Formats: sequence, C-alpha cells, structure tokens
Amino acid sequence: MFDPVTILKQLNREEKVQLLCGLDAWHLHGVERLGIPSITLTDGPHGVRLAQSHDVFDSVDATVFPVEAAMAATWNVGLIKELAGAIAKECQQLGVSVLLGPGVNGKRSPLGGRNFEYFSEDPYLTGAMASNFVEGVQSQGVGACLKHFAGNEQETRRFLINSVIDERTLQEMYIAPFAKAIRESRPWTVMGAYNSVNGQFACQNSHLLQDILRDQLGFDGLVMSDWGAVGDKVACHQHGLDLEMPGPADRDQQLLDALDNGDMSEVVLDSRVLKVLELIHKSVTHKRDVQVDFERHHELAIEVACDSAVLLKNSGNLPLDKSRSIGLIGQFAKHPRFQGGGSSHMNPRHLSNAFEAFCSRAEVSWAMGYEELEMTDEMLREAVALAKRVDQVVLLTGTTDALESEGFDRSNMRLPEAHVELIKAVYQTNSNVVVVMYAGSALETRQIEDYAPSLMHAWLPGEGGGEALARLLFGEVSPSGKLSETFPVRLEHNPTYESFPGNKADTIYNEGIFTGYRYYDTKKLPVQYPFGYGLSYTSFAYSDLSYDASCREVAVNVTNIGDMAGAEVVQVYIHDEHSTLRRPDQELKGFAKVMLQPGETQRVSIALDEQAFAYFVTHLQRFAEESGRFEIRVGSSSRDIHESLWIELESDIECRQIPTLNDTVEDWLRDDRTRPILEDAFAQVGFTKDHSFYALTLGFPMTLLKKFMPMMGLTEQQCESLKDKLGLE
Ligand code: BGC
Repeated sequence: MFDPVTILKQLNREEKVQLLCGLDAWHLHGVERLGIPSITLTDGPHGVRLAQSHDVFDSVDATVFPVEAAMAATWNVGLIKELAGAIAKECQQLGVSVLLGPGVNGKRSPLGGRNFEYFSEDPYLTGAMASNFVEGVQSQGVGACLKHFAGNEQETRRFLINSVIDERTLQEMYIAPFAKAIRESRPWTVMGAYNSVNGQFACQNSHLLQDILRDQLGFDGLVMSDWGAVGDKVACHQHGLDLEMPGPADRDQQLLDALDNGDMSEVVLDSRVLKVLELIHKSVTHKRDVQVDFERHHELAIEVACDSAVLLKNSGNLPLDKSRSIGLIGQFAKHPRFQGGGSSHMNPRHLSNAFEAFCSRAEVSWAMGYEELEMTDEMLREAVALAKRVDQVVLLTGTTDALESEGFDRSNMRLPEAHVELIKAVYQTNSNVVVVMYAGSALETRQIEDYAPSLMHAWLPGEGGGEALARLLFGEVSPSGKLSETFPVRLEHNPTYESFPGNKADTIYNEGIFTGYRYYDTKKLPVQYPFGYGLSYTSFAYSDLSYDASCREVAVNVTNIGDMAGAEVVQVYIHDEHSTLRRPDQELKGFAKVMLQPGETQRVSIALDEQAFAYFVTHLQRFAEESGRFEIRVGSSSRDIHESLWIELESDIECRQIPTLNDTVEDWLRDDRTRPILEDAFAQVGFTKDHSFYALTLGFPMTLLKKFMPMMGLTEQQCESLKDKLGLE
C-alpha cells in the first residue's frame, strides 16, 4: 500500500497539478507510473447513481431510498445510519469510493428547489441526520461528502448569487449541521457550493474554507468543488479548495503559471495534492468485496418510507377497513412519484406501486384522476364515478418534477390546481376520503383542508413507497413520521417571503436566525402543521421529567396508552429566559424515537450536547453559554409540549460588550458596569430624572453628550467636570 507523503515527494509539478482536477465527470486522476489508481465518485444522496454513459440519467439500477426530507421525518437516526450503510454497500459493489452526499443545506424558504434533498429546517435535526448518515456510509469503507458548503439555500441563479449572511446566522443556522457531522463522524470530503457568500465565491472563500472549515471545525479531509463551481482556479486552490470537479482539466497551465510567478506557493500546492492522495489512499485501503442483498435493501427502503410518512389528520377512517371496497384515485398509484429531479435522479431496481400493494390486501379499483398536472373531463368523470361506487377512497396527489426539482425554486407551495379540483369533486361524492400527498417539502394545505378529512404527507418515498403506503393505511404499521419542516398556513407567513430568492446579484438572509419554527413560534403565528408534528394510530402519555445536570441528561417516562404498538418521537426544546442577544423562543436540542407496545412505559433518556444552551456570540467569535435560567420543554411537536422544568446555569463567559463612548446614554445606564459611573457623574452636576431634558438625553451617543451639555442646563464648570469624569474629549 502506498504512503501519500512518500508519493507526493515523487511527483513532478505537472503530475501534482493534474491531480487537482478530475479525470472526467466521475473519476479522479491516478498516477499510473507510481501505481496510484483512479477512483470513482457518484451522486447521492438517497442512493448510488453510477453513470453508465454520457447521459446523466442513464445510471446503473440501484436501490432508491426515500429522499433526505423524508429521512429526517423519521427522526430515527439508527435507521438512517442503516440506510446509509446499505447505500455504501451498493457503492462498494459498483466500485464507487465516494458518495456525493448528504446534502446539509438549510431550508430558509419552503420554496427552495432542492429542499427535498436536504434534511430539515432545523440545524440540530439536520446535523444529527447528517452525522448518522456519514457514519453509516463510512462504516462500509466508502467516503461521504457533506454538501454544499455553504449558504446554498436556493436554486435561483445558484451559480452566480451572492448569499449575504451575518456571521451569527451563518454559524447557528448553516454551519452548525456541517459542524456536528464533522465533529461526530469525520466525513472524508466536503463539497464547496456554487454561490458566493458575502462577496466571495464559496470555493474560493478563505473565511469559509480556511477560518471556519479547517481552523474552527478541524476538518481534515478533502474539499472538492461542486460540478463547475471553479471560476478563478488559482484563487480557489490558493484559498482552500483541494479538488476541482468535474474534469477534464482545461486550466492546468494557469496553475503552472501561478507557481512560476509566485502567485501560488509550492507549499500550498503540496498541501492540496496531499489531500487528493490521502483520499485515494483511504479509498484503496477501504475497498472490499461485498455481496449486496438487494431484497433486504428494498425492504429497508420500505421500512424507512413507513417511518417517514406523517399522518397530518385522521377523521377516524384510518386504518382502512379491508372488508369494504376501496377506490384508489390518482396517476401516482400506478406511476409513483418517488424521487425528485436533478443530479439525485436514479433508476430503481424494484419500484413498488400503491395499486399492486393495495390489491394484494383488499378489493381495490383504480381511476387515473390526472396525468401529471392536467385533468381531463373524462378523468374527472371516471374518478367521481369510482368514488360513488366504493366505500372508501384513497386519493394520491402531489408535486411533479415540473414543480419541484434541482435547478429552480418552486413558485408556490400549493398542490397542482387540477389535483385540488379533483380532491374537491371526489369529496363531494364520497366524503370517506384519505388524501395522500407526495412532495419533497412543505405544502400549503388550506385549499384542501375542508375536502380531506384524513391527510398524510408521504414525501418522495423512494422505491418502496407503494408498499409502505399500504402497510400504513391498512394499519400494519402505525404512522410515526414527524414533520422535519413546518407547514405554514400560507407561504406569505414565511419570514423569507419578501426576500427569497433575492435580486439578480444578492440574496439577503435578513430573517437571520428566525427561520422555520424559530420564527413562527417566537412570533406566535398560527401554523397549519407545526414542526415535529405527526399523528399515530395510538397515543402516548408523558410523565416524570427530570434533568441530571452532571451528565446533561433529560429523562422522561413515555407510555403507550392506546391499543396498538407505535413509535413516539420525544423532542427536547430549550427556552432561554433571558439572553444578551435575542434568541428564538425555543430551539430543538435533542430527540429520541422509541417503539412502545400497548401499555408499555419506557424511561427515555436524552443527552444534551455541549452546545445545547449556547448560541453564537459574534464579538467573541464562538458559541457561548450564558448564566441564567433555561426551560427544558419536552413534547411531541414544537407546539405540543407535555412536560417542562427550569434549570439554572452558571457560566463564567461574559457575552455582554461593555458600552463604549460610541454607545448611548441609555446603554450606559442599562449596564451595571457603566451605570454607576454615569449616575455618579450626573448626580455631581445635579442632572436628575426630573430634568426636562433627561428623557431626550437617553438616546444621545455618549460622544454627543458634550455638545448638549449646555442644553442640559449645566454650567461651564459642570460641563468640564462631567467631561473629565467620563473621559470625553
Ligand atoms: C449538484 C451536486 C452534485 C453534482 C454532481 C451539481 O450540479 O449541485 O449536488 O453532486 O452536480 O452531479
């Protein structure tokens, strides 16, 4: 086996430069004369997509798992680790060394075109999912790739847009998931995004790649570009990028010239090349022969799909009654909507469909209802006639690739108009309806609420979606998915409504840290379905919440008080009573999914990590925990808290900045470190609260105070003494 450092010493400059760009779209260069092989990278994230020709959509059949949004809705980190391990086994069998996933960007807006490919609106849930996904992939000797670093929260003008993000927002909302996964699971690679962040392209942004990724997060793997994200090649490598993708290279000469004229040093070149050699080395040492059990993987895809579906409403007609006739309506029943469009698009090995899965369980008839976004009169007539004939109706609806895909953002959150019309007509004929929605992200449901007595969000559930739906609706499995993103009442309620997707040049993250439920809950806005929400066929009771400060562990009893087995997701939110900088009303800081038999009680323990009470304090350039009282809230959604308790934290970190002469009189009077100085000075010159000028004075910057001293009724001598006392020039 080769040693990367020794090999590096044997390479000439041309060979080194060659290694810094891909051989083609999916392979890296090797060095034949030294026996260094070329390795393969492929998308990701919800299955392996190995291209078999120049056509990107012509990929080898592989197991298609539910998309990341669905994975996050399982809240089941163990299951996601298993899923990722299964994908990696398929990678090993196909000779793939690095899987280009998981995607860990945030969901500023529900309109984000790739929201289906990302986990959650919450950075903690995203980080936990990402970390387990990476661990699962790498446990099989395949490298994971956290993407897209960073600030890539929209598709509109994604190659050009400049994301303007203040440091605290960047750290708390968008770096945090990368940080958690890097800390806990050490991914082999990270992919730099297309967009700029605060004026500098992500792949040549030294604040992102050096200060944050390497220095702050301690990332020691390889940084590759997104496909085509390298503009200025020299600047990219100079500022932290190791590998340009895809190849073949057309700008090696630029790098050679930069080395000649000193724009880039040999030391920088060597450190980048070393990362490439280390990646090839890891890939080679971890190669193994595996036999993939595709049947097991298909079953796993079904299990994850079952675990992810969120039951939003149940009027009592679920589970379905097998002994009564069922009408299944919708094109998706025979032509499943199971994945999103773009670079993650795969060819499934075994695509299950709801119609077949239902037919193996009950008497079922089908009507097409619509074709993609259109519904003809004939389709409507057929669907209504079917609804009239049967006892129960299951209507499948959702988005299509034309509405939701990589490459563009959604223009609204609604279901297709034709589908809404169909739902209304069917309900008016037979109100015993269950509506199932297939979409990779949050939808507005108010248009159909009155016509959908029972409602399930099934996401984009992968190749096992059809079978999973049958298991769920026939009650073989109790639904246990919980929303990984809020369903607002209307798009307009989202805090990015006015600013997303920005103007031609910039997209300004001016909602800051208040996205998703952090915004809705702080603002106390009604939502359609809250973050963390999802019904079950059984119900749960919570009791005896406790907190052990010595190991930062929350514990609570959860009892299944219904008569069916089911899984509950216990969620821990932290509320900070008072913080120097404004914080959301509550933030998710822990969770656990537990399976309970009827009548069973489990004491569920959830360890909070070292950042559970902390937030990013920009002037300290770090996460910091402040002294004070915190409420630990435990519940089954952000709006359904069952138990809570208060704790007191002592911290020696001072987050408050001491007021300076550039701050206001009021700032000085508010702060216990400056108040005595100013009060004393005012007292000495007899300037008190009953002075008519007092209230106005409060807003003055301290530097202006001297200008207004005569108006404060002070004598020249008093002015001089006040200036002296406060250090004013
Ligand atoms: C996407 C990446 C993907 C890459 C390779 C890019 O357009 O943004 O997520 O991994 O293509 O297909």
